[in-house]
Amino acid sequence: MIENEKIFELNSVCFAYQDETALKNINFNVIRGEKVSILGANGSGKTTLLRILSGLAFPQSGTFHAFGGELTKKSFDDDKVASSFHRKIGFIFQDSDAQLFCTSLREEIAFGPLQIGMADEEVRQRVSDVARLLGIELLLDKAPFNLSGGEKKKAAIAAVLALSPEVLILDEPTNGLDPRTTRFLVNLLLTLNKAGKTLITSTHNLELVHELSDRAVLFDEDHTIAADAPTAQILSDTSLLRRVNLVDESYRGGL
Ligand SMILES: Nc1ncnc2c1ncn2[C@@H]1O[C@H](COP(=O)(O)OP(=O)(O)O)[C@@H](O)[C@H]1O
Ligand SMILES: [Mg+2]
Repeated sequence: MIENEKIFELNSVCFAYQDETALKNINFNVIRGEKVSILGANGSGKTTLLRILSGLAFPQSGTFHAFGGELTKKSFDDDKVASSFHRKIGFIFQDSDAQLFCTSLREEIAFGPLQIGMADEEVRQRVSDVARLLGIELLLDKAPFNLSGGEKKKAAIAAVLALSPEVLILDEPTNGLDPRTTRFLVNLLLTLNKAGKTLITSTHNLELVHELSDRAVLFDEDHTIAADAPTAQILSDTSLLRRVNLVDESYRGGL
């Protein structure tokens, strides 16, 4: 493995939805195996950045390199390039309902592996392995839409992990979860990162950032990057966090 290998590299990336700017002149790298968080107020551009990293959106200007090659909408015309990219990336949406569409959790987890042509026996093994990892074995025959918010989040993560992606990208992963589920997921994500998976999480909740990242990228409300630095340094810069509207006057900073 190459040391400090850049798996993602964005250069001067801009993106807008019609007239609505979402990303302005973004320069940003991710190193294989690191854990990094994307911070910023609501509407600052976090989800859009994660969508580009996941190959769900493409820069309107500037460039995006992933795993050593430039990625454009056109590169996905080649099925091999598209499937090789998508197998490396696991994207967990903020809203689990947008990610769950099968009639049972078992089918949901098996969907990806079957889609890539994995043999039935191996698929059964994968389903059982990830269900055990997430502690959702007893839910496998339930319909995803009947699950609680925390169970849905675990289901979405299980479905993504069934394909064993090397990069996990999670958009506001603990939003709306109870403390016990939050702790369970944070510990799981840290274990997966220790096992070598690159971990990229967005959040506007600062409580978990120390744990979930060594480095933080902070968006300004004008959709530029205000800072890209060690997490502890960013979290202790109270005036910067206030300026970008991530904390209010009561925030005292640091750990
Ligand atoms: N589908 C969309 N259509 C129009 N504007 C959008 C859409 N998605 C996001 N935006 C706008 O783009 C900007 C960045 O949004 P987003 O990337 O979702 O930020 P964040 O995840 O930090 O809340 C916001 O101003 C938002 O209103
Ligand atoms: Mg968002």
